[in-house]
Amino acid sequence: MDKITVIGAGNVGATVANVLAHKDLAKEIVLVDIKQGIAEGKALDIWQSASIDDFSTKVIGVTDDYSKTAGSGIVVITSGLPRKPGMSRDDLIKTNAIIVKEVAEKAVKYSPDAIFIIVSNPLDVMTYAALKATKLPANKVIGMAGILDTARFSMFVAEALNVSARTVNALLLGGHGDTMVPLPNHTSVGGVPLHELLPKEKIDAIVDRAKKGGGELVALMGTSAWYAPGAATALMVESIVRDQNRVFPCCVLLNGEYGLHDVYLGVPVVLGKKGVDRIIDIKLSDEETKNLQISCGAVKDVMKVLDDMKLF
Ligand code: NAI
Ligand code: 2OP
Repeated sequence: MDKITVIGAGNVGATVANVLAHKDLAKEIVLVDIKQGIAEGKALDIWQSASIDDFSTKVIGVTDDYSKTAGSGIVVITSGLPRKPGMSRDDLIKTNAIIVKEVAEKAVKYSPDAIFIIVSNPLDVMTYAALKATKLPANKVIGMAGILDTARFSMFVAEALNVSARTVNALLLGGHGDTMVPLPNHTSVGGVPLHELLPKEKIDAIVDRAKKGGGELVALMGTSAWYAPGAATALMVESIVRDQNRVFPCCVLLNGEYGLHDVYLGVPVVLGKKGVDRIIDIKLSDEETKNLQISCGAVKDVMKVLDDMKLF
């Protein structure tokens, strides 16, 4: 791909740009921030690792100059406030909705054919805001959360079993919040169903820890995570750039899938050069369906706050 833009050069955005450069996925990465000099400095720092880490991608940084982003194939939006201890992701909506709207409108003007990947919180509703702001088809506006939440779940399983996290194949649905729905019945380790390897109480404890995984890190660091979020975002970019058609849980617009309508929510999708190639609609148990509906309700409550802001 010729160009990928990453908006927001904070903890997550800089990490995304760094991982993307190391994967050599584009000729050029453009990092954008509103704070004078920060994107330029971080881009220079990343690019200066090229001869050490053996990559060819050029990385440039700009302060609020979207003309340099023109012709991007993918735009990643990470701009906005992160959580502080005691805050929920939903507390960020009033500030971040305005930021996401503004940057999405500016970016799409210069890259009308781009696929947009949204990272800013509250994730599900910010992805919906980006859909409204860009007016792109929904297969081109996708939120990152499920890969991260699933990776956390996988790591906790790996820790409990003393196995490599690479051998854990997990699935998780729903919104990126405390109501997310890990699916231990759809999780296996080296092909062996999880429930054959761990007792129910231990699985329940892991499910609970995964649901609160973001908060655990905020409590430790005073701000939210960036290494795993950055890596998860880069994995989505890679599947699109390389047209890999990999299946990941991503936040996408549902129109009847899982019996839900007009809501952005995490479900398994096939990710390729079109963005969302298709949504995979799996059969859920009654309890899983109920939990997904609760998660959908929580996201719709925050969508209502966005609607009341009358930005669109
Ligand atoms: P950060 O504070 O380190 O970086 C945010 C950057 O956005 C700052 O450099 C700021 O100057 C920039 N920014 C603010 N307004 C802007 C504008 N109008 N134009 C361009 N840049 C602007 O925050 P961090 O840790 O990088 O998190 C970014 C967002 O990602 C937060 O909303 C956070 O909650 C979310 N997040 C989402 C995750 C997910 O799984 N979806 C995981 C981790 C973070
Ligand atoms: C996370 O889950 C805060 O959404 C961010 O780490």
